[in-house]
Amino acid sequence: MSRKPLIAANWKMYKTPAQAQEFVKAFLPLVANHDRDEIVLCPSDTSLSVVIAATAGSNVAVGAQNMYFVDEGAFTGETSPVMLKAINTTHVLIGHSERRQYFCESDETVNRKLHAALRHGLKPIVCVGEMLEEREAGMTEEVLLRQIGNALEGVTAEQAEPIVIAYEPVWAIGTGKTATPDIASEAHAIVRSEIAKVLGRKSAEEMRILYGGSVKPENCPALMNEPEIDGALVGGASLDPQSFAKIVKY
Ligand code: PGA
Repeated sequence: MSRKPLIAANWKMYKTPAQAQEFVKAFLPLVANHDRDEIVLCPSDTSLSVVIAATAGSNVAVGAQNMYFVDEGAFTGETSPVMLKAINTTHVLIGHSERRQYFCESDETVNRKLHAALRHGLKPIVCVGEMLEEREAGMTEEVLLRQIGNALEGVTAEQAEPIVIAYEPVWAIGTGKTATPDIASEAHAIVRSEIAKVLGRKSAEEMRILYGGSVKPENCPALMNEPEIDGALVGGASLDPQSFAKIVKY
C-alpha cells in the first residue's frame, strides 16, 4: 500500500507578506510538475492570502500554523477555521510543540482543534513528540501514546482520511540534532500502532506520518528511505526556496 509523501514547510514567525511572495516566485519553478509528493507551505496568518494567491493553480497547497476551535466569537487574537476556509486555506498545523510549550496548547485543545478542522474540511497536520527529558527518562512511548490517543479521541475511521500526523521530537527541533532514521522509524511505528488501536488497521495503514526536526537537504534522503516515514515537516530549512526545493525533490 502506498502513501503519497507530504512535504510541508513551517515558516513559523518568519517572513513578511512581501518576503513570502518572493519565496513563492522563486520556489514554484523549482518544483514545477513535481507530482511524487504533496507540497504544503505554512506561512504566518498575515501572509496566508498572499501565498494562496501566488500559488493558485500550482502543485503547492497552503496551510495555517494554528487556529482556534470555535467558528466565531469574542476570542481576541484568534483565527477561526471558518476564516481560514474563507480564504481557501487547505491545511492546518495543530499542536506544534512550540504551541504546546509557549502557548498552553494541551492534548485537550489539540483534540478540539482536530475536530474543528475536520468539521470545516481543513486537512489537519497534528504534531506529536517527546521532550529531551522524556526521552532520557525512557518515556517516549508513553508520551506518544498519550498524545495520539488524546488527539484522536472521538474521531471515527470514516472521518480520519484527511488527518496527517507529524512526529517531531522536541529535542530535534531547531537544534540541528536530527533523529536518526532508526529512531524516527521506531517512533513512527509506535504512533502507527496507536492509530491502529484507536481507528483500526486500515486507517493506520493509510495515514501519513511525517518526520520533523532539523530536516535538511542532506539528511532528507536517508529519512525518506524509511518505509515508516511518509514525508517531512520542515522549519529552518524551508525558509530558503532552493533548500526547500531540494528537500521536496530528495
Ligand atoms: P526545524 O523545525 O526543521 O527548524 O527543526 C521543524 C518544526 O518545528 O516543524
